[in-house]
Amino acid sequence: MDHELIQRLSLARQVLVFDEKERMSSFIADRFRETAAGAIRDRGFFSVALSGGKTPAEPYAEIGRRGQEIDWERVHLFLVDERFVPPEDEQSNYRMIKESLVESVVIPRENVHAVPIGGDVRATARSYEAELKDFFKVAQGSLPVFDLILLGMGEDGHTASLFPGSHDFTNHGHLVLPIEPTPGRVARITLTLPVINHGRALFFIVTGAAKARTVRRVVGEGDPSLPASLVRPIEGELIFLLDREAASLLTMDGAEKTA
Ligand code: 6PG
Repeated sequence: MDHELIQRLSLARQVLVFDEKERMSSFIADRFRETAAGAIRDRGFFSVALSGGKTPAEPYAEIGRRGQEIDWERVHLFLVDERFVPPEDEQSNYRMIKESLVESVVIPRENVHAVPIGGDVRATARSYEAELKDFFKVAQGSLPVFDLILLGMGEDGHTASLFPGSHDFTNHGHLVLPIEPTPGRVARITLTLPVINHGRALFFIVTGAAKARTVRRVVGEGDPSLPASLVRPIEGELIFLLDREAASLLTMDGAEKTA
């Protein structure tokens, strides 16, 4: 059995626990491919926002390995967030996504919407917001709808670059926010919570025992002090993809065995 469906809290929210990282990556790659095919069939293109950090590098590589049949000409990759560093910097999320996925597929350069780092972080956030509005043809006051958003979660319960206590996440109609630097953390640019919550399908990819306590607070308790708990898609699907370690503090009662 690839994974165990331990909670189907509602049709829109599932928690899947994987015994092996490889199985999780395969699941993600398959769902990426299926979601892309459906979006391209229904709307002519597939828009996906990818998070950075370390966890998703292997799933992204698997997407690349298994993505031959994806019509990459019609795929548009965006970033959920970005560190305010040059693209060649080892902290750059774009660099990780380029090395793990973009370089292994034939996708038009203009379909990879990296955050245009330059000037100051506010100007960069405005510039990326303008790019989103232009691509999605967003009317004033409305929000872009991504077909798929892949999210990570920090031990502190942040997701994207929405950190605990750092921001009023309702953010007054913006699609993209600048996040000022703090000691030990560079400035960042992030999609806002309303944009994330407008996605059609949101996958959290969380692994490792170090995050188990946070997973329990977010998945088990919905602790509103943690930004990851505020990810509640308006209409979309929300799936938590966990390894055994990250899920180790979740109550497993009500488990539904899947084939
Ligand atoms: C970032 C990410 C961030 C990430 C978490 C988890 O820019 O840091 O977008 O939200 O998903 O920090 O990072 P790890 O996968 O490295 O634990």
